[in-house]
Amino acid sequence: MKPFALEVKNLSVRLGNNLVLDNLNFEIEEGSITAIIGPNGSGKSTLLKAIIGLIPFQGEILIYGKPNFEQRKILGYVPQSYEIDKFLPMTVKEFLEFNLTKETFPKKEHLNHHLKEMDIVQFENKQLKDLSGGQLQRVLFCRALVNDPKILLLDEPTSGIDLVGQREFYEIIHFLNTHHRLTILMVTHEITIVHHFANHVLCLNKKLICNGPVNLLFKEEILKELYGREIFVYPFNKPPIQK
Ligand SMILES: Nc1ncnc2c1ncn2[C@@H]1O[C@H](COP(=O)(O)OP(=O)(O)OP(=O)(O)O)[C@@H](O)[C@H]1O
Ligand SMILES: [Mg+2]
Repeated sequence: MKPFALEVKNLSVRLGNNLVLDNLNFEIEEGSITAIIGPNGSGKSTLLKAIIGLIPFQGEILIYGKPNFEQRKILGYVPQSYEIDKFLPMTVKEFLEFNLTKETFPKKEHLNHHLKEMDIVQFENKQLKDLSGGQLQRVLFCRALVNDPKILLLDEPTSGIDLVGQREFYEIIHFLNTHHRLTILMVTHEITIVHHFANHVLCLNKKLICNGPVNLLFKEEILKELYGREIFVYPFNKPPIQK
């Protein structure tokens, strides 16, 4: 059996008077791609923030068997785009260099490789505030990769990206997963794409409603429980990425 990249035990999060996550328990296998789905306000971003160690929680979060706060270095995180301060007075390249750790800074030329891979070179000298939504999203994705993480946490990474950009994005994710064995957790609302692309799904609505293979998403009763009403999913004829 593959080792667990992530184990979450009795995880609860309270924000103000709000119980936002209620006693979650699940494990994520190394090398898997997991989609986290659920309605607005269901706690998806909160879950990623707890894993990354940005907010206090009750329970246990283990990354490769160790408490999450000891493993911060092997996590890459792309926050939901509106949570970023675009007005930092920095160019794209400065912003990315600024995020290198003391371990990765000496390997700075490695950054150029990521800039090319993410097609960022053409706007690397632009100020962050002058980027389009999709360009900013690519920069944030690049930032999550520069320190060579083992686990990537992505919060709606393709929102605001055009269809070609989305397709390229999924190809990169697929490549990172298959060639670098990166474990990927991704919050998304794109259920049909997820079906062809992820191999595991967590359905969240304060509690864990489902946890298992992606075809759970096509079970009407699960979607109904998750969203509180009937949901129709229209599968694509052709998978965007062959698994
Ligand atoms: N700092 C805070 N104080 C109190 N409540 C908060 C705080 N931040 C978030 N919440 C609440 O926690 C709940 C979960 O928020 P979260 O951002 O995790 O949802 P989400 O599933 O990511 O939603 P979306 O799909 O809209 O991004 C919401 O009801 C939100 O109002
Ligand atoms: Mg969110």
